[in-house]
Amino acid sequence: MTLVNETAPIRLRDYRRPDWSVEAIELEIDLGIDSTEVTSRITLHGDPAKAEPLRLDGEELELLTISLDGRALNAEDYRYEKGVLEVSDAHGGSVLETRVRVQPAANTTLEGLYLSGSREHGFLLTQCEAEGFRHITFFPDRPDVLARFTVTLRADRERFPVLLAGGNPAGSGTLADGRHWAKFVDPHPKPCYLFALVAGRLENIQRDYLTADGREVKLVIWSEANVIDRCHYALDALERCMRWDEHKYGRNYDLDVFHVVATHDFNMGAMENKGLNIFNAKYLLADPDSSTDEEYRAVEAVVAHEYFHNWTGNRVTCRDWFQLSLKEGLTVFREQQFSADMNSLPLKRIEDVALLRRTQFPEDAGPLAHPVRPAEYREINNFYTATVYEKGSELVRMIAGRLGQEGFRRGMDLYFERHDGQAATIEHFLSALGDANRIDLTPYLAWYAQAGTPRLHAKGEYDSARREYTLTLSQQTRPTPGQPEKTPLPIPVKLSLFDRSGTMLPLHLQGDAQVDGTERVIVLDKPSQRFVFKHVSAPPVPSLLRGFSAPVVLECDYSPEELALLLTHDADGFNRWEAGQQLAMLAFDTSHDGNDSAACKAWCDALAALFTLQTIDDALLADLLTPPGEIEFADRQSEVDPAKIHAQRQSLQHRLAERIGVSDLLARYRLLSTDSHAQLEAASQAKRRLKRRVLELLVLLDADQAHELAAKQYDSASGMTDRLAALSVLVRTNATQASAALAHFRERYADNPLALDKWFTVQAQVPGDAALAIVQRLENDPAFTLKNPNRARSLFGAFASTNPSGFHRTDGAGYALIAERLAQLDALNPQIAARLATAFNGWQRLEPVRRSAARLALEGLAQREGLSPNLSEIVSNVLQ
Ligand code: PHE
Ligand code: ZN
Repeated sequence: MTLVNETAPIRLRDYRRPDWSVEAIELEIDLGIDSTEVTSRITLHGDPAKAEPLRLDGEELELLTISLDGRALNAEDYRYEKGVLEVSDAHGGSVLETRVRVQPAANTTLEGLYLSGSREHGFLLTQCEAEGFRHITFFPDRPDVLARFTVTLRADRERFPVLLAGGNPAGSGTLADGRHWAKFVDPHPKPCYLFALVAGRLENIQRDYLTADGREVKLVIWSEANVIDRCHYALDALERCMRWDEHKYGRNYDLDVFHVVATHDFNMGAMENKGLNIFNAKYLLADPDSSTDEEYRAVEAVVAHEYFHNWTGNRVTCRDWFQLSLKEGLTVFREQQFSADMNSLPLKRIEDVALLRRTQFPEDAGPLAHPVRPAEYREINNFYTATVYEKGSELVRMIAGRLGQEGFRRGMDLYFERHDGQAATIEHFLSALGDANRIDLTPYLAWYAQAGTPRLHAKGEYDSARREYTLTLSQQTRPTPGQPEKTPLPIPVKLSLFDRSGTMLPLHLQGDAQVDGTERVIVLDKPSQRFVFKHVSAPPVPSLLRGFSAPVVLECDYSPEELALLLTHDADGFNRWEAGQQLAMLAFDTSHDGNDSAACKAWCDALAALFTLQTIDDALLADLLTPPGEIEFADRQSEVDPAKIHAQRQSLQHRLAERIGVSDLLARYRLLSTDSHAQLEAASQAKRRLKRRVLELLVLLDADQAHELAAKQYDSASGMTDRLAALSVLVRTNATQASAALAHFRERYADNPLALDKWFTVQAQVPGDAALAIVQRLENDPAFTLKNPNRARSLFGAFASTNPSGFHRTDGAGYALIAERLAQLDALNPQIAARLATAFNGWQRLEPVRRSAARLALEGLAQREGLSPNLSEIVSNVLQ
C-alpha cells in the first residue's frame, strides 16, 4: 500500500506568534467569470531585525506584478513556490502591492473565488474559511493576523449589477465601457478567513432594524430572483435572533448593514463572513410547499448560528485552527439555547442528543477520534467535525451548568471585555468564565484535550436499616488513536431519586450543607466515588444525568420496571425520552427470535399506556415512540451486522405497533389528520410529527391499509412535511403506489433543486439490498450531478451515511460504488469527497465478511494516484 500521509502534521505545541502582521489591506478586484484580477496593497507590521523573512500564503495565483514601497521587484527580490511568496527587504510600515489573476469559473472546489450556477446566469462569490483567502491573493492566511479591510469591486454592470463585500458601503459609481464600482470599508479588524464578496444578478428583501444600543441597521437577504420569495422566513428568524442576543447576552450588531446571500453551490451549511453571511440555500430558503417542519427549524437555527458568530468568532476570533471549537462549540451552544427558547426545550435537547449519539459518538469511538481541541492536523478542513461542533457545545453546556445562568452571563461578559478584537484560545475562554465567578475551571481543559466518550458506570445500593442509599459512580474512557492512557474527567451528574410510585424524593446528601430540593448536581472527578443519600425511606429509582448533563455513555443496571417507571413518571421530557431509549436498548439486547423479553414488554406496555392517555405533547409522544436508530444500536456491538440490526429494530417496532393495536393507531391517525393546514404553530407541527410516526407504525401491521392512507395523504397534503412523510412510507415499504407518487414528485419539483434533493434521498434510504440498484439508477437521472454538493450528498451521502442496511452489503458492492465515486468527486471537490469518505468510519467493527469487503474498497482507494490531501488523510486514518 502506498504511504498517503507524507506531509508532516501541524502541531498545537509548535504555535508561534506571527513575525509579520498586517495593519490594513486594500483590495481592488476586477471581476470576470473566467478571469478576475486582484490587486492587493498590504501595510506590514514587523521588525526585520527579529523576524524571519516575510512569507505570505498564496495558492495557484498567477502573479502579474509585485512591488514593495512603490518599487517594482526583480526576480531576485522575491520567490513564489509551493504556496509561499517570500519577499526580502520588507520592514515595518512597508507596503507590498501585488496583482494576481485567478479563474473563478474553472474553480470546482467551492473554496476561494468561484462561480455559482451557470456561466450565463450564475454569480461569483467567495469562501475563505479555513484557508481559502490564499486562493484569492497573497496574505498571512492565519486567524491571528487581523487587518482592516478596504475593498473596491469593479465589474460589468449588466452582468454583475450587484456588488457586495463585507463592511460598510463607502461609495459606488460608474466607469467607462459599461463597468461600475462599489467600495466597502470594514472598521473592525478581522482575520482574512472572514473576508467575502458576492457579485452578480441578485434580488433582495430587506428590513430596517434598530439595535438595543441605538444603531440603525439594514438587514438584507439576497438570492437569485426565482427564490427571493422564499427568504422571508429567514429574515424573520434573523430579527428574532438579533433581539435574543441583545437580551440574553447583551450583544449588539456592529455595522450599518448586514447582508445574507443564498447559493445552491456550497460545501457546508453557511458561513459567518463579517457583515456578509453566505448560506447554502438549504439553510436559508423556506416555504410550506417545499420545506418540511424540520427544515424550517434548521433555517432558524443556522441563521442564528451564523449571526451569533459575529461575537463568538468574529469580534473574538481564534488564535489558530486548533481553537476552532472556541468559536464553533460556543456558537452551537448559543444556537441551541436560542432554538430551545423559540421552540421547546425538551424537544430541542432530544434532537441534539440524538444527533450527538448518531454522529459524534461513532466518531469518538473509531479511528477518526480526536479531541475537541486536536493536538495536530494535516488538513484543517477535515476538522470541521461533530466532535469540534457538537461535543464542543456539550462542553460549554457543562461549564455553563456549573456556573449557573447568571454566572455564565458574567463570565461571557468578562470574556468579551477581555478579548474583543483579539484572537483567543480555549484557555482564555475558561479563565474569563472562571475569573468572573472565582472558580477554577482548569480541570475542564482535560475534556478539550482528551478524545473518546467516557463511560459512566452507576451502581446503587439501598440499606434499609440505615435508610441510606449509596450511589457509586465510576468512569472509564477507552484508548483512542494516539491516546492509550486516559485521565479521569470532571463529570457533572444531575440527578433525582424517585420512589416506586413515581414521586421525587427530597435529597439529603451526606456531608453536604444543602439539604433541600429534589434535583441536584454531583460531580465525579475521580476514577470512582461514592455518594450517600440519607433519610431514604424505601429503595429509590435514580434518574441520572438529567438533561444529559455530560456527554458520556451511562451504564446502569436498571431493571425494565425501573426504566418504565421513569418513562411514565419523570416530569422532565428529556429524561422521560432517555428512559425510553434505555429501555428500548435493553429490549433490543434481550429480544431474540420473536421471544419477547421482559424489557420489550415493559417498553411496549409503558408506551401503549402513554399513547392512550393523550396527556403528553404530540411531538414528545412521537419521539418517545421512536427507538434509537440503527447507528446507535450498532455502536454498542463488536461484530456489526447492519442487516440484522435493521431487522431487529423493525421487529421491536412491530411489537410496539401490535401492543398499541391497529384500531387505536387508525383512530389516532384520523384524529391527527383533521388538522390539514400546513401551519407553522408548534401544535400543528407536533401533530404532523406524531401523524408520521403513527403511519410508520401502522404500515408494520397493515401495509395495504397504511399504503392507501399514505397515498391519500400524499395527494391531499397541503405542505411538504405531510407530503414527504407519505412519500417516504410508500417508498421505503415498497408500496405499489410508490412509483406514481415518485413520478409526480419528480415532475412537480423539477425546477426546485432543494425539493429534488429530498426525492433522491428518500429513495437512497430504501433499506436493504434493494438500495444499491436504486442508487445506480438515480445517478443516471439527468438531474444528478457530482458537481453540486447538496445533490451529491442527497444521493451518495444519504446512501452511505444514513442507510446502514443498504450500504453495508455482504457482497461489498456498496463499498465499491462509493469508493469509485469518491475518487471522481475528489478530482472536483476534495472537501466534499473527504466528508463523504467518513461513511467508512466503523468498518473495523463490522462482521468479518463485510469487514474484508470494506477493507478491499478502502485499500483500493488509498492506492489511487493523485488523491487530494483531504481524502488521503481520511482514508489513511480510517484504515489504521
Ligand atoms: N464556520 C462555518 C460555520 O460553522 C462553517 C464553515 C466552515 C463554512 C468552513 C465553510 C467553510 O458557521
Ligand atoms: Zn459555526
